[in-house]
Amino acid sequence: MTYELSLEGKTALITAAGQGIGRASAEAFADAGALVIATDINETALTELERYDGITALKLDATKPEDIKRVLAEAGGLDVLFNCAGVEEAAEMLVWAVSPENSFTTGAVFDLSGGRSTY
Ligand SMILES: NC(=O)c1ccc[n+]([C@@H]2O[C@H](COP(=O)([O-])OP(=O)(O)OC[C@H]3O[C@@H](n4cnc5c(N)ncnc54)[C@H](O)[C@@H]3O)[C@@H](O)[C@H]2O)c1
Repeated sequence: MTYELSLEGKTALITAAGQGIGRASAEAFADAGALVIATDINETALTELERYDGITALKLDATKPEDIKRVLAEAGGLDVLFNCAGVEEAAEMLVWAVSPENSFTTGAVFDLSGGRSTY
């Protein structure tokens, strides 16, 4: 079965995108046309991510609210969130940035801290 995903014109934020599931997702989202904001604490991994077309890499420690605020301000509007870091403290701030008032009607949210996903 062929499955085609288009994320043209969408902005997606991914936490823990430096390697593993987050990295694979960042590349897949970029391949699907999204503008990907890939975040991680590992600066070496971020440098590698920057080389990928469609990916902007930013440092974000998902346990630090000040990091989240900074990245959200830099990112502007978001359509898709993948909170791959699975840090519960980060989830609320990030989820609300994509889906105001937790309505889950405005964006796609995949949050590994609570096993929650909606789109
Ligand atoms: N791999 C699995 O089988 C599996 C299964 C269930 C759940 N998970 C969950 O999926 C997520 C990703 O798994 P993975 O196997 O790809 O992990 P991984 O260990 O390959 O990568 C984790 C990434 O998270 C980054 N990171 C660590 N602490 C961070 C922080 N405070 N803020 C931001 N980034 C941070 C690391 O630098 C690294 O790039 C994790 O939340 C994990 O618990 C994974």
